[in-house]
Amino acid sequence: MNKLQIRSLEQYHENYAQSVSDPEAFWGNVANEFQWMKKWDRVLEWNFTEPNIQWFKGARLNITQNMLDRNAAIRGDKTALIWEPNDPHEKSLTYTYSELLEKVCVFANALKAIGIKKGDRVCIYMPMIPELTVAVIACARIGAIHSVVFAGFSANALADRIEDAQAKLVITADGLNRGAKQIPLKRVVDEALEHVACVEKVIVCDCLNWKPSMKAGRDIWWKDVVEGQAIACDPEPMDAEDPLFILYTSGSTGKPKGVVHTCGGYMVYTAYSFQNVYQYEEADVFWCTADVGWITGHSYIVYGPLLCGATTVMFEGIPTYPDAGRFWQVIDKYGVNQFLTAPTAIRSLMAFGEDHVLSYSLDSLKIIGTVGEPINEEAWNWYHVHVGKGRCPVVDNWWQTETGGIMISGIGNISPQKPTFAGYPLPGIQPVLLNQEGKEIEGADEEGYLCIKFPWPSILRTTYGDHERCRVTYFSHYNGYYFTGDGAKRDEQGMYRIIGRVDDVINVSGHRFGTAEIENAINMNKLVIESAVVGYPHPVKGQSIYAFVVCEHEIPKENQDLARGEIMESVVAEIGKIAIPEKIQFVSGLPKTRSGKIMRRILRKIAEGDVKNLGDTSTLLDPFVVDEIVEHAIK
Ligand code: WT7
Repeated sequence: MNKLQIRSLEQYHENYAQSVSDPEAFWGNVANEFQWMKKWDRVLEWNFTEPNIQWFKGARLNITQNMLDRNAAIRGDKTALIWEPNDPHEKSLTYTYSELLEKVCVFANALKAIGIKKGDRVCIYMPMIPELTVAVIACARIGAIHSVVFAGFSANALADRIEDAQAKLVITADGLNRGAKQIPLKRVVDEALEHVACVEKVIVCDCLNWKPSMKAGRDIWWKDVVEGQAIACDPEPMDAEDPLFILYTSGSTGKPKGVVHTCGGYMVYTAYSFQNVYQYEEADVFWCTADVGWITGHSYIVYGPLLCGATTVMFEGIPTYPDAGRFWQVIDKYGVNQFLTAPTAIRSLMAFGEDHVLSYSLDSLKIIGTVGEPINEEAWNWYHVHVGKGRCPVVDNWWQTETGGIMISGIGNISPQKPTFAGYPLPGIQPVLLNQEGKEIEGADEEGYLCIKFPWPSILRTTYGDHERCRVTYFSHYNGYYFTGDGAKRDEQGMYRIIGRVDDVINVSGHRFGTAEIENAINMNKLVIESAVVGYPHPVKGQSIYAFVVCEHEIPKENQDLARGEIMESVVAEIGKIAIPEKIQFVSGLPKTRSGKIMRRILRKIAEGDVKNLGDTSTLLDPFVVDEIVEHAIK
């Protein structure tokens, strides 16, 4: 892939200009670096009104042929995947390109043997173990659509996602390791499946030797299903626009939606963005600390690196186990050259002081990345000085589940860096800032709504089973633009700074939740009549969740902690521990307009502790409710 690599700032500007003046020539040229079973008739056809976006129309390919067969042929003995276990004393595992190809083919044949076909949906709910990566790629091998659900989600959340995708198969494990804890997974799957009818089979991987109960006729062990399977499996020919996967993500309204990515465009863009942002060279080792359950793991642990013939590290554990030096130890252990993590991880490690990071050399590092939420200047500096030793560029990757790949970011050591600025758009990405009226803002240093005015190959195509929802959510706010939901600023050099969400989405430790989703979970509790949830700044998590809750009966002070615990349980049951509100305040009513709309603006200010600037409250249905909330606000 290094033919695609941008080598200088000048070249970046040239490529960028070409990608805007002739996008079809630009992306056609990039796409020519891949193996296609049949070339496209047309590079791009699109409109943002339906929306209908088709890249490489008429082409046929299989993404796994480009990840595995192609690399096995030219670098078969190169390590494709390094797996580092949760416990540093346990044995790590490595797979060469040839070995990974074989593992994937064997499992792909197993999937076929149990009746999984092209187009079927397969839900993957697994620990961060090599079998997760194998399962993902094996689905792509046979054209089954994977829907990976992060293993921290609850049974109800899992059931919703299985049901929405109408998955036939669930792939899971007995349980998972997370630092000093072990967490059951199979039990969660069993509970989820009590409520859904579409699942025919469950494949269970043995991770902890727990021997969970197995339902006869439905549940099969991984080791049994792969037994005797052939080591070759032809890649299924796919249309460029056939779905590759579904990944659920939260928005400002309703239940999480299944973002759909397709085979051709996603392949081209994840490889292109990986190669450039991380300036990958043949002998390099790349490590992204995300979980494969999120888009970052899909694009930059699995697909992007393997498409580029890279060595990619997959880490089962957490940054603070057995101690806060774990990341740095792993970097030295494998000589990691490019490292990608989240601001929340950086901030939590900062709190343990410099000693941990100073005990490791980190000499191998060349480029360090950050992703998932805005990074504050203090964390940026700490990362740059103590991890990057002032010598590695920090690339701040702004993108979204919906964009499939990195959109705005530094490019290795090629483009300028500025703390808290993500930087320039990658070639092919045309961001604009819009004002309230939907007009493009031209000048510098003004804040606007971040939109994209032209398609790129890995833009979402639809939301699964509900195309209208895709249109309304992303393409109806501003005519002719994809709306990101983020606010941003642009400086005089054209660099972008992402400010944060302008909709009702909260980003807690890089995890994305809709306020409505958390409110629904809280309202499930029998004590509760209604609730309103807002985000407020948190020193480590970026944002944290503050819930204002109206109960059927007033809860006496001495019982409030108990009631809080029960409400948290409801959130754990509906979504998972990751969505627990940090603060729960019982209130007698919520500030509403006369038309019944909750004034979140006011609640946000209260949650931030900024009670002097509540703005005009006179139009509220009951202005006095605000005084009561302010008086009892949780500090
Ligand atoms: C939202 C997308 C990017 C993949 C992981 C999260 C925020 C993401 C950055 C960044 C500032 C960022 C945005 C975006 N975000 N990266 N570098 N700087 N904000 O994907 O769960 O789909 O969340 O995360 O608000 O809209 P996601």
